[in-house]
Amino acid sequence: MCYSGNKMKMSPLLVLLIALLSAATTTPPSEALNVRGHLLKSKTFLSPAISLSPGSVSNKWYFDIPFPRGHLALKSFNGEVVDEHGVPVPLHETYLHHWVVEPYYAPKNDVAGHNRSKVIPARNSGVCTTTLGQYYGLGSETRHTATWVPDPYGIEIGDPEAPPEGYVERWLLNVHAIDTRGVADKLACTECRCDLYNVTVDEHGRDIQKDYTGGLRCCYDETQCKLKEGFVADGEKRKLFLRYTVMWLEWSDAVLPVKIYIFDVTDRALMEGKSEPACKVEYQVEECSSENRAKNDCVHVEATKQILPRGGDIVFGVAHQHSGGIGSSLHGEDGRLLCESMATYGEGKEAGDEEGYIVGMSTCYPKPGSVTVRDGEALTVVSNYSSERPHTGVMGLFYILVAEHKQQQQLLPVAAGKPGLCFSFPVPCELAKFHSESPGSS
Ligand SMILES: *[C@@H]1O[C@H](CO)[C@@H](O)[C@H](O)[C@H]1NC(C)=O
Ligand SMILES: *[C@@H]1O[C@H](CO)[C@@H](O)[C@H](O)[C@H]1NC(C)=O
Ligand SMILES: *[C@@H]1O[C@H](CO)[C@@H](O)[C@H](O)[C@H]1NC(C)=O
Repeated sequence: MCYSGNKMKMSPLLVLLIALLSAATTTPPSEALNVRGHLLKSKTFLSPAISLSPGSVSNKWYFDIPFPRGHLALKSFNGEVVDEHGVPVPLHETYLHHWVVEPYYAPKNDVAGHNRSKVIPARNSGVCTTTLGQYYGLGSETRHTATWVPDPYGIEIGDPEAPPEGYVERWLLNVHAIDTRGVADKLACTECRCDLYNVTVDEHGRDIQKDYTGGLRCCYDETQCKLKEGFVADGEKRKLFLRYTVMWLEWSDAVLPVKIYIFDVTDRALMEGKSEPACKVEYQVEECSSENRAKNDCVHVEATKQILPRGGDIVFGVAHQHSGGIGSSLHGEDGRLLCESMATYGEGKEAGDEEGYIVGMSTCYPKPGSVTVRDGEALTVVSNYSSERPHTGVMGLFYILVAEHKQQQQLLPVAAGKPGLCFSFPVPCELAKFHSESPGSS
């Protein structure tokens, strides 16, 4: 329902090619290895074991994971799925749907958060309110997506003053992995298509409506995707791990703090005139109409606006998409491009180059001070998918790191009043209205 691809000038294939050519590298620039003499530290950890058998799903939350302790500036977080011998596991065997990492405050006498009702999440700075509170989070693109925070910036963690009295900061990890060995349809299993999961109720026992054809509500922890006829899954159970490497510096005045914001293309609240964000996280991509197919125009464009609470310099940006994703962009209120993040697809079999999977997202590292955003600015998120075939449970997230300007208090009229919705490229008013009538993902 959300087609507006008639402005498309390039074929999706060409776009993919461009994405491949402009793929990001995960290596930090070498001159960035220390900030004014402060030593960069690095440590690699293993998550708890993730137990999987053909077709099975694991979506668990691990509390109090191994993580650097102290008042620190995080510089990067990279991870990948490995087996018991430390060998990287390719996406066509275990699809890494997503992982997220975030801090929380736990009572000193229950750091592992056994009593969940006492755990206080320490969320990022916005813009969703109940979901997407993570500091880091990626999926299949993990192996070739840079997370490096450029100098002199860092993500401040472990401030002893931050937790409430009697609480300490700890970290949690959520890993959602789907074992697709021997399954009937690998793409459909990774897209959590409900007909392959034989579920009628979601994780919380709520009925799944007929019009919900795929997404997280159908592939929760311990669900099972349909196996190929005659495939015997016995004895194929294995233990996997998320192996992650964290880089950091001791916190000091030499490091400038950045805030983490995550934008979600499914949040239609502002478009519908509501004040509270409503991030649905997932949406569906319907198949290209025959009319558009004839015009070689099978791009599904989803777009929305969300308010950035506090402005400053954007120092990093990256999008998160699923298979079928082409790329995503973030624009200022006047339509100016803030960051574009394009998907890279693998071409082979090995881990990190799996054909048909997004193996990396390109990133933005604007020259400091060259990309600024204002307090209360309405930003536009655009997420493009190929609609050559339909997709369920896709995502369109955009992460940015913002360094606030300390001295000047940016008081702008727009921050106080309601932002205009209909003026800026690339979402014309018509499209915005059209979108606000579409049912979204659930
Ligand atoms: C998304 O698609 C639109 C319409 O085809 C195009 O104008 C825009 O450049 C695309 N953006 C990205 C990031 O791929
Ligand atoms: C967990 O914490 C809540 C809120 O403080 C308390 O009411 C409840 O009894 C606790 N549960 C357990 C099992 O300790
Ligand atoms: C589907 O689930 C039902 C019960 O929930 C079970 O009886 C049935 O065997 C399952 N079908 C398959 C193919 O796993």
